[in-house]
Amino acid sequence: MTRFIHWSDLHTEFDPGNMIPFEMPDLPKDIDALLLAGDTGVGDGHLDFLQRAWEKYEIPIISVWGNHEAYKNNYTLLRKREADRLLNLRASGMDIRVLHGEATQVSGVTVIGASMWTDFSLYVGMEFQAKQIANQQMNDFHKIRIGERARHLTPNDMADLYAEDKARVTGLLEEHKDDVRVVMTHYMPSEACIHPAYRGDLLNASFATNLEPLIWDQGPNFWIFGHTHQGLETDIDTPHGTTRLRHNPRGYPHEKSAFNPHRIIDTDDPERKFL
Ligand SMILES: [Fe+2]
Ligand SMILES: [Fe+2]
Repeated sequence: MTRFIHWSDLHTEFDPGNMIPFEMPDLPKDIDALLLAGDTGVGDGHLDFLQRAWEKYEIPIISVWGNHEAYKNNYTLLRKREADRLLNLRASGMDIRVLHGEATQVSGVTVIGASMWTDFSLYVGMEFQAKQIANQQMNDFHKIRIGERARHLTPNDMADLYAEDKARVTGLLEEHKDDVRVVMTHYMPSEACIHPAYRGDLLNASFATNLEPLIWDQGPNFWIFGHTHQGLETDIDTPHGTTRLRHNPRGYPHEKSAFNPHRIIDTDDPERKFL
């Protein structure tokens, strides 16, 4: 039996000054790992939170970046700084794992993690317009810098990051096809995860891509996502069994979300949701 707590979009960058800062709840002793599907905190605040979570729970803390992790930072430099600090944290005995298109093992389960990003292809033939709208409306393109010259991230850069992550996740799913597999991405893997209030909006291409063909081919047991603070969960039947798309975002301080810090996924009891 392998049981994970999964949270996303904690947005701890808003906790200073917030009337209701996030307090980590007590968890039972038989949780195998904490999974964080991105937008945990900004810049170094991301690892700060992971370290606090390890100190409280002393179980593997497994995370992917959302888009907000790189806000007010240079993506390239932050990745390097994170890698150095992770080495130190792990050397001091903390089991903190940040997955950038990588797989890791927990209690017999393979967890495959990546931000995933987007190539704006959700609506076929509308990529150009979707990139234009993203550039105008998403903060990412003026809050994130990238590369040696620290230029602003562009939608084309994001599409390149998506291509890398998608290739890695696809390869890892194939490599571990005989395992129980949990995929964790920040971005949504299906239009079916988008709340009906936003259906048809071209801005959705900044939040989701259509990874249903990959889910159909591979049939991972679970796919955890974040990014939207108001998404829909769904189950996708594949030739290999059912893939359960799951989502538990806290969101911004002013938002009402259905966040439940005791939300669980249990690979032996996939319908189970709470402690
Ligand atoms: Fe978020
Ligand atoms: Fe996000």
